[in-house]
Amino acid sequence: MINDQPVEAEESWTVLETAREYGIHIPTLCYHESVEASGGCRLCVVEAKEGNWSKVVISCMYPVKEGLNILTESDRVKNVRRWVLEMLLAECPASKEIRALAAEYGVITSRFTVKNPEEQCMLCGLCVRVCREVVGVSAITTVGRGVYKFIGTPFGKASEACVACGSCVTVCPTGAMKARLDAVRGLIKAPQS
Ligand code: SF4
Ligand code: FES
Repeated sequence: MINDQPVEAEESWTVLETAREYGIHIPTLCYHESVEASGGCRLCVVEAKEGNWSKVVISCMYPVKEGLNILTESDRVKNVRRWVLEMLLAECPASKEIRALAAEYGVITSRFTVKNPEEQCMLCGLCVRVCREVVGVSAITTVGRGVYKFIGTPFGKASEACVACGSCVTVCPTGAMKARLDAVRGLIKAPQS
């Protein structure tokens, strides 16, 4: 069931895939149907009820199962989403996409510490996965560790593997990749006459 309504799904489907099949909206950021889910952003949370218990799960990775009732807009779900958006506002405060999404949930300030007011990237890794799994070139990667982690090219040099397809820019949910593409692909060479 989704929101108390019966649904049918293939055994291999996730809750998110099933909801989409029925046109039920669940917000997502790091998910794209063309690549492996990573469960990075946690915005796609829903409440899964079974018998006497319920828990909050991420719908993009949670498998469907007979007997589950999924609530996509319960108070518990909305609270977790607001909390996730507060974290994202602090993580990538310069992203107007994130600010707009947060505002939809009434989140306009964050209790978390802003480390870099210019940051747009939430490090969801979707651009890296698309570059590797769809384009098949791995021009970009996650560089560094912990708080120093960022998305870039190996050794910070323009990538020879980059085919300048712009897929990373298209899938980026925060607008961050747009400003980084030139550094990744380097200068486009003028055609030889
Ligand atoms: S550049 Fe965009 S897609 Fe890539 S990790 Fe950052 S937010 Fe995600
Ligand atoms: S969309 Fe499911 S964790 Fe990001």
